[in-house]
Amino acid sequence: MTKEQLKLLFEKMSIEEKIGQLFQTYSNINEKTSVITGPTGKAELTEEEIKLTGSMLNIRGAKNIISLQKENIEKHPHGIPMLFMMDIINGYETIFPIPLAQGCTFDTELAEKSASIAAREAAAAGIHITFSPMVDLVRDARWGRVMESTGEDSYLTGLFGEAMVRGYQGKDNDVSQKGKIGACFKHFAAYGASEGGRDYDNVEISERTLREDYLPAYKSAVDAGSLMAMSSFNTFDRIPVTANKKLLRRVLREEMGFGGVLISDYSAVEELVMHGAAHDLKEAALLAINAGVDIDMMSVSYIRSLKSLAETGKVGIKLINEAVMRVLELKNKLGLFENPYKDANEEDEKQLFLCREHRETAYEQAVKSFVLLKNENILPLNNENTTVYIGPYSNNKEIFGSWSFPQNIQSMVTIKEGVENLDINNAVFLQGCEILSSGTILKNGSIINYKENENENNIEIAVNAAKFADKVVLCLGEHREQSGEAASRAVLTLPRTQLELFEKIYAVNKNIVTLVFTGRPLELEEIADKSKALMIVWMPGTESGNAIADVLYGNKNPEGRLTMSFPRKAAQLPLYYNHFNTGRPNRNGNLSFYSTGYNDCLSSALYPFGYGLSYSKFSYSKITLENAELTANNEIKASVTVTNTGKMTGVETVQLYIQDAVGSAVRPVKMLKGYKKIGLQPGESKDVTFIINETMLRFYDVNMDFKSEAGKFFIYIGADSSTDNAVGFELM
Ligand code: GLC
Repeated sequence: MTKEQLKLLFEKMSIEEKIGQLFQTYSNINEKTSVITGPTGKAELTEEEIKLTGSMLNIRGAKNIISLQKENIEKHPHGIPMLFMMDIINGYETIFPIPLAQGCTFDTELAEKSASIAAREAAAAGIHITFSPMVDLVRDARWGRVMESTGEDSYLTGLFGEAMVRGYQGKDNDVSQKGKIGACFKHFAAYGASEGGRDYDNVEISERTLREDYLPAYKSAVDAGSLMAMSSFNTFDRIPVTANKKLLRRVLREEMGFGGVLISDYSAVEELVMHGAAHDLKEAALLAINAGVDIDMMSVSYIRSLKSLAETGKVGIKLINEAVMRVLELKNKLGLFENPYKDANEEDEKQLFLCREHRETAYEQAVKSFVLLKNENILPLNNENTTVYIGPYSNNKEIFGSWSFPQNIQSMVTIKEGVENLDINNAVFLQGCEILSSGTILKNGSIINYKENENENNIEIAVNAAKFADKVVLCLGEHREQSGEAASRAVLTLPRTQLELFEKIYAVNKNIVTLVFTGRPLELEEIADKSKALMIVWMPGTESGNAIADVLYGNKNPEGRLTMSFPRKAAQLPLYYNHFNTGRPNRNGNLSFYSTGYNDCLSSALYPFGYGLSYSKFSYSKITLENAELTANNEIKASVTVTNTGKMTGVETVQLYIQDAVGSAVRPVKMLKGYKKIGLQPGESKDVTFIINETMLRFYDVNMDFKSEAGKFFIYIGADSSTDNAVGFELM
């Protein structure tokens, strides 16, 4: 539609028809056609409200969407098509590793590719918008939603956010193209900073911390052209974000230049009442529309209050008109007025879902996401040794994150299947125990209830097998529903039943390789001490077993690097590498007396940001600088030589950190400012050079002006954030 045609349509619309565009309904939410992603049991909708609906969320499949769209167009007074939106954060039917795992690949091109595949499959299923990328900065693994982020560094999170937007929307953001869908970045803003890692809880950070640490990744998504944004559940400065005009209008729209559609999170508008920010749904609608929320997701605040608010002059019709125009323009960008069904096509679904090319990308991303944390010459495995795989994940298909909704779970490749695909004939697979102990309550309220004696028998069988094995691979981890939304946990150890299994196996065989399936950093200190090898495989998705088998048997060399610190204890959280020195630093993570840290636990991470091992070994030269004086008009070249001193070809992620030694506001001890992945043959060396310029050193100074300050800086280049391979320079 041309702008003129859109304007003509707009001018024909009644106030009720306009407000309908700002309503995301749920009338068809049922297990058969939809994915349930929040509280249901809402108020019954009237026929009129359903007829005027502007969009729907989480409807599955081309068949359902085509039928709903057809029905809606026929009923709507102007035949305006609906938008169909869904949470596709790591794949539609071909499932990729969870975003936190994708971050550990340090491979944004691959993330862009997997996002483009997810878009292709989702578009064929009739979806127009995905509620992704999630670019919340995360520093507290008690928060279950860390699995949806790419980690604790805002620079890296921004790079991945940009890549995913490009993957969904295409490099030119022309979402009318076949196989492209709109991105909706989320959750603006600072949702990941909720106190205690408790989902939905209060956020108490300064404006400086907000701007310095939390906003940059959202800005990256805006600059990448994300067509939508989602407001978050939390408060900022004790004002719920969904009613926070300063954040949504001033910061997001005016400062950052976001011109797209802003949708609330699930029933977040009506929840302003529960927050105690609004007396009733009408006031909630008033606050949200004034703050700049365009679409009210899963609540009837807008659809039942905006008309009277406009008629009584409490809400300017201009605000409503602007919001409606943004929604209509989004539909127009998708080409929905010309083709309301866009790419929805059951035949294409059959061709695209789980096709060979998509699986290959899922495999590649899984292999690159695994993080090898320890290896005392026990990996790679070989065909000579008898190996017993024991644990609830040894042959389990629930190996995808809690924000994945594959229909064909049988398509998931288990570890057993992956090892058997390699024609390995000396491996045995035993469950050993269930994932969770009986009585565990999952977030949907269901209680795990296994027959205890069955568990006992399984453990006994496994222990007997382990006695005679050369090596044991323990396949352990949290349940897939233990990470994700409404999945905050205070204790981050493995489930009790798995710890019991581990101890009984350890008692009879010390040659243990432990694999951990998880959506978050866990407390693994004791497991690590007693394992000869430890590898985090996250939730790897469709190609899990093939990827794990190839890494275990050395066909692939692990290259993942942590993008979230692993604590020793959950009590250390929040824990992040770019922390502050304090007046009494505890640099080496020792037990602290008169210095920051704990008297009963080392204050350092068990495994720091950027850390990960390979089957190769990499050595670094000292850093050489071309010059040691930086001005606003020149740049510094910092170089190292990296050598593969191991016996296998491998990939190293060379990381550049910078420290600003003194600032009018204190500065983090290190900040990731760049990285390069390099492949090295055994014995091969490569020079790696980073360019540093003055803009990389800017921050919010004591007056909240964004600028650099002259003085001493340090450059660190190494294998992870704990590197002390450093050299100084001056900013003049
Ligand atoms: C959920 C989540 C959000 C998701 C939305 C729609 O509550 O917070 O990330 O996109 O609802 O499912």
